[in-house]
Amino acid sequence: MSVTVVIGTQWGDEGKGKIVDLLSPNVDIVARYQGGANAGHTICWGDETFVLHLVPSGIFHEHVTCLIGNGVVLDPVAIMEEIRMIRDLGYDVDGRLLISHDAHLIMPYHKRIEEARERMRDAGAIGTTGRGIGPAYVDKFARTGIRVVDLLDRDTLRRKLKRAIEEKNAVLRGVYDADGLDVEQIIEEYVEFDSLIDPFVTDTSQYLGQALRAGKRVLAEGAQGSLLDVDFGTYPFVTSSHPTVGGCCTGLGVPPTAVDTVIGIVKAYSTRVGNGPFPTELDDAAGERLREVGDEFGATTGRPRRCGWLDLVALQYTSMINGLTELAITKLDVLTGLDTIKVCTAYRYDGKETTRFPSEVQTLEKVEPVYVSFEGWSEDITGARRMDDLPAAARRYLRFLSDSLGVRISMISTGPKRDQIVSESVVLDTADIRPVGTGG
Ligand code: GDP
Ligand code: IMO
Ligand code: MG
Repeated sequence: MSVTVVIGTQWGDEGKGKIVDLLSPNVDIVARYQGGANAGHTICWGDETFVLHLVPSGIFHEHVTCLIGNGVVLDPVAIMEEIRMIRDLGYDVDGRLLISHDAHLIMPYHKRIEEARERMRDAGAIGTTGRGIGPAYVDKFARTGIRVVDLLDRDTLRRKLKRAIEEKNAVLRGVYDADGLDVEQIIEEYVEFDSLIDPFVTDTSQYLGQALRAGKRVLAEGAQGSLLDVDFGTYPFVTSSHPTVGGCCTGLGVPPTAVDTVIGIVKAYSTRVGNGPFPTELDDAAGERLREVGDEFGATTGRPRRCGWLDLVALQYTSMINGLTELAITKLDVLTGLDTIKVCTAYRYDGKETTRFPSEVQTLEKVEPVYVSFEGWSEDITGARRMDDLPAAARRYLRFLSDSLGVRISMISTGPKRDQIVSESVVLDTADIRPVGTGG
């Protein structure tokens, strides 16, 4: 049995879509296990750029079966739109896209409640993507959710929707002073999904179990990033699911013993969309430069991403939680042209240095990053395909990351396109890896 999990190690947008697309030729199934249309996974080849929100990033490889697991919260409108887009591009989805009958649905009232709650939180708002993710997971765990299987039975759907909307309307009007939703209008709209979604719906955990026993190779595609995990992230400024490795087991129904490879996707610097603490954030021209050169604008909401230096304290923590077996470093090219590149190796808090990543935001908000500095490089690396093509300074930076995390690097991405990758024989030399300076 072989399951490879691709995990975002930071706050999302590490380049998971690109790496999953790249690995797809070597697998049979690509499966999403958590999150929903809050994800925006970008894939580029030639002059084309595609952003996927729900459909797994293996869809552009005809031999791959793409699967949306029970752990995902599915917006029926968003999935049908995405399916249409993929078909319009000339790709067949019939028989290749499977949706779990157990996945919970995102309904218009989830978005309405999220919007009202964010408005009420004011300065304490999370800065969500507005896709209804949190309220949909609340309903799932409150055991009041509506699932994909319910879409296939009009009577059940009507009954469940009526009850849910009446309750949500009471909350919207009574608690949030917001407008309620029209019960009949929503029912009429959503009963129509039965025949549209039916061809894709199946028992995906059974399907995966049989596939694994038959020796099929499965790639589980994480959405968001480990620091947005509802348990291990910067709570409450997190998403409502488990992007970390355990989410793959509960969100797909694959046993932990089947997972043999865990690839951590690490952007060569840090970004974050939405609110919450971000110790290495750069509020200056250096941060602006990373945003401009890295084109750091949200793939789902278009919001500018906050940018900062790489944070090894956070990465050591997410590497530990996920048991990473490999690293894929992305966006290395964005660092080209910087005289100095900084990496945070510890936090200073209360006059003391620590390498512990605090789980409480009150502390994380107050820590000061302790940096080491690396010499930059000026050579264009976007055409690099082998380790030897990278300047010595870039190799030193990579080597330091790999050594600090104790995990080998198997891929280095040097541009957004499929072929911009160093993946064959990624061997890091043992040259002096000491940083050029410390402090500040
Ligand atoms: P995901 O959510 O983790 O799949 O990442 P996103 O797609 O939201 O954001 C990553 C962005 O960086 C996308 O615009 C990608 O096309 C782009 N990208 C991925 N890898 C590289 C890289 O190595 N270099 C550059 N310059 N861009 C990259
Ligand atoms: P991908 O898969 C980056 C962030 C939001 C917000 C917080 C909660 O593309 O890496 P939510 O809508 O999930 O309730 O918002 O999480 N967030 C992401 N940030 N990439 C993502 O997905 C994200 N999905 C959610 O900005 O801070
Ligand atoms: Mg993204």
